[in-house]
Amino acid sequence: MPILAIETSCDETAAAVVTLTDGTVRTVSSVVSSQASLHAAWGGVVPALAAREHQKNIVPVIQAALQEAGLTPRDLDALAVTQGPGLMPALVVGVQAAKTLAYAWRKPLLGIHHIEGHIYANFISPTEPPATPTEILFPLLALVVSGGHTELVLIRDHFRYEILGRTEDDAAGEAFDKVAKILGLPYPGGPEVACRADGFQEDTGLRLPRPLIDSGDYRFSFSGLKTAVLYAVRDVPVERRNPRFVAAVCHEFQEAVVDTLVGKTRTAVREYAPRTVTVAGGVSANVRLRGRLREMVAEEFPGISFVMPEFRHSLDNAAMVGSAAVMRWSRLTPEGKERALTDWRTLEPDPNLKLAA
Ligand code: KG4
Ligand code: ZN
Repeated sequence: MPILAIETSCDETAAAVVTLTDGTVRTVSSVVSSQASLHAAWGGVVPALAAREHQKNIVPVIQAALQEAGLTPRDLDALAVTQGPGLMPALVVGVQAAKTLAYAWRKPLLGIHHIEGHIYANFISPTEPPATPTEILFPLLALVVSGGHTELVLIRDHFRYEILGRTEDDAAGEAFDKVAKILGLPYPGGPEVACRADGFQEDTGLRLPRPLIDSGDYRFSFSGLKTAVLYAVRDVPVERRNPRFVAAVCHEFQEAVVDTLVGKTRTAVREYAPRTVTVAGGVSANVRLRGRLREMVAEEFPGISFVMPEFRHSLDNAAMVGSAAVMRWSRLTPEGKERALTDWRTLEPDPNLKLAA
């Protein structure tokens, strides 16, 4: 049962074909056209520019996804699209394209929440070595960390989300991007900061705060940490801000973020006793975070499994949207499937879409 999924919520134009057979979700094809290098000149995503690029790329990207899958529109069971949250001008392009195709091809269309997509990236059968799938058992605890979101979500069964806590200010990815900017590193800053941090070993005595780490709840805060980085950099004369200094700041900043994320996740595992723990969103590509989470769960909670998305499914892509969609589609009644053939007429992009329970 192939589903064609479309994602245009931020600065990636993406389309993918995803299937579900015998309970296994597979990516048949996945095409991502990134605009990151274009937005880099502006130091961040420019919504109007993103919309223009999506318009330019959406049809070729969809065609490429179908071609790579060796399928024609007739072979598809349904279509899916990211409905929100995201940048409105960007979301509109994907939703309009999806609605047009649903009409022209007479296919059902499902609107998917972007964060639900990130979470369901974990359900896609892995192909990167060692490619051993881990069964996801509920309750599932998901640490969601992206450019726009930082939250701990308890999922007691498919599509039943309970937000345990979220960030009070900046998202984790946003903090990475802002720190990169302070240090004069290009956009998107997350990978730039991470690669400098990972290569740094010395102790330079620099200490940054771990905001709210002992608050005993699931609130996060990263804006004070970012300000602490700003002060630490400001206090050093420009001529001494050499690559070693930049790497030292990146290292301590990454440790501070990872300590906080791992600490809060540990508290939630203790309180809610999930059977599986996972991480989702663009920051789940962070190697240090992946390693520390895996280690924490393995050492402190033997019996509980840890799952993370493959790298290609960590950052924005359409396969994750397709994964959520095939799961939703397979659980629809025949009447629900019938309704999905026409329901999309009222589907509108929603930049503030909530992750409904
Ligand atoms: O999920 P995503 O692709 O887009 C949103 O939904 O926001 O996440 C993008 C965010 C950016 O802030 C980016 O800097 C961050 O994820 N990111 C990383 C890494 N790779 C991407 N942050 C830390 N370490 C990384 N390796
Ligand atoms: Zn995302």
